[in-house]
Amino acid sequence: MKEKFLINGGKILSGEIEVEASKNAFLPILAGSILCDDKVTFLNTPRFSDIDNMCEILKLLNVEVVRNGELLSLDLHSLKNEKISHEYTNRLRASIFLLGPLLARFKQAVISYPGGCNIGTRPIDIHINAFKSLGVKIVERHGYIYCNAQNMKAGKVVFSSVSVGATESVMMSAVLLKGKTTLYNVAREPEIKELARFLNAMGAKISGAGTEKIEIEGVKKLKGVEFAVCKDRIIAGTHLLLGALVGKNMRVIGARREDNEILFDILKESACSFKEDDFGVTISSCGRSEAYKFIETLPYPNFPTDLQPMLMTFETLTKGTCVIKENLFENRFNHVMELIKMGADIFVKDRLAIIKGVEKLYGADVFASDLRAGAGLVIAGLVAEGYTTVHNIFYIDRGYESLEEKYAKLGADIKRLPE
Ligand code: UD1
Repeated sequence: MKEKFLINGGKILSGEIEVEASKNAFLPILAGSILCDDKVTFLNTPRFSDIDNMCEILKLLNVEVVRNGELLSLDLHSLKNEKISHEYTNRLRASIFLLGPLLARFKQAVISYPGGCNIGTRPIDIHINAFKSLGVKIVERHGYIYCNAQNMKAGKVVFSSVSVGATESVMMSAVLLKGKTTLYNVAREPEIKELARFLNAMGAKISGAGTEKIEIEGVKKLKGVEFAVCKDRIIAGTHLLLGALVGKNMRVIGARREDNEILFDILKESACSFKEDDFGVTISSCGRSEAYKFIETLPYPNFPTDLQPMLMTFETLTKGTCVIKENLFENRFNHVMELIKMGADIFVKDRLAIIKGVEKLYGADVFASDLRAGAGLVIAGLVAEGYTTVHNIFYIDRGYESLEEKYAKLGADIKRLPE
């Protein structure tokens, strides 16, 4: 059933909101679970449709998946290798994460090209070339990737450019190889450290995650584990930016400065006050902020592309002009037209968005074009004067759990309705 959010904006938000486990950490970790033939239990599983879809693929691979509240148990004793068709991979790009673990366990895999949010061409050449450099034979035909890893060997991989997904793929493919694999020019995102923490808890020997070089000493076998996944830094950022606009002692449990130093620098220069403690951040708006002059999205530790739409919503209401440069994905300004409908003053030229702050946004009918664009529009609706309808909220459900219920608890007037 198609659903939408109806928001009556302009309410002050206060109280506590807890950040869910990180979607982008969880998805590769779910795929990595199949590296063992034991039981893996996750203790803090959020209700994200991307996680449900990944579990559907695991079921196709004969994994017994049992969900009980936040507990998610995977029984991997009867895992089998299956061709993963477009019907499954089309639902989420993270399906590509299964390739590495399948090669590690079965020495061959067939998978259709991945889908995912429509934010650019999103090729997988970096993954493919890295596998090839370790000896995997790959044929791409009729939309499928046929991989044979009979001659795959531990060795050296130098990534041509920094890719989160490719780093994770190759890490997973190498943990069961005999000998040492060294990965150079890897991504340094916290989600990569979290994947290494998970694999090491299962018995892998990975060092250097979070730096530019990762070393993997192959082990024979991995064992089952109970695991809690780290908090989602993008959701934390979403709530903090909302709090900076309309929060009054809004406490974001699970928000941490080290996950996004630049966001905290932006907040520090903004008209808001915030206090950090061991468990989260309490934030209040102190009026209209000065524009942050220039910000560009780049790999970690720089400003994340996934938080760009929410930052843009924040900047639409500042005093002055902010320029945002999107370096990662070429289609990641789809929310701009929707914000303009709400009264924002934004001009886009190639990868630059020039945002002139306005005093107010006004409610309108807007359409989410991807997960994070959708979150940016929800924030805009909560801050705007009057009623906003956000359509296509299935995108938002991919990576936020019952967002409307969480914001309603803070005092927002937001409802989920059928289309
Ligand atoms: C991951 C995140 C996504 C985030 C992105 C960048 C997950 C599940 N998703 O996506 O939310 O926006 O990191 O932080 O963790 N590229 C290629 N060829 C490839 C792979 C990537 O050209 O084979 C390009 C991409 O188009 C992009 C850049 O490299 O311009 C970085 O992409 P990458 O880091 O791979 O992003 P994802 O892992 O897909």
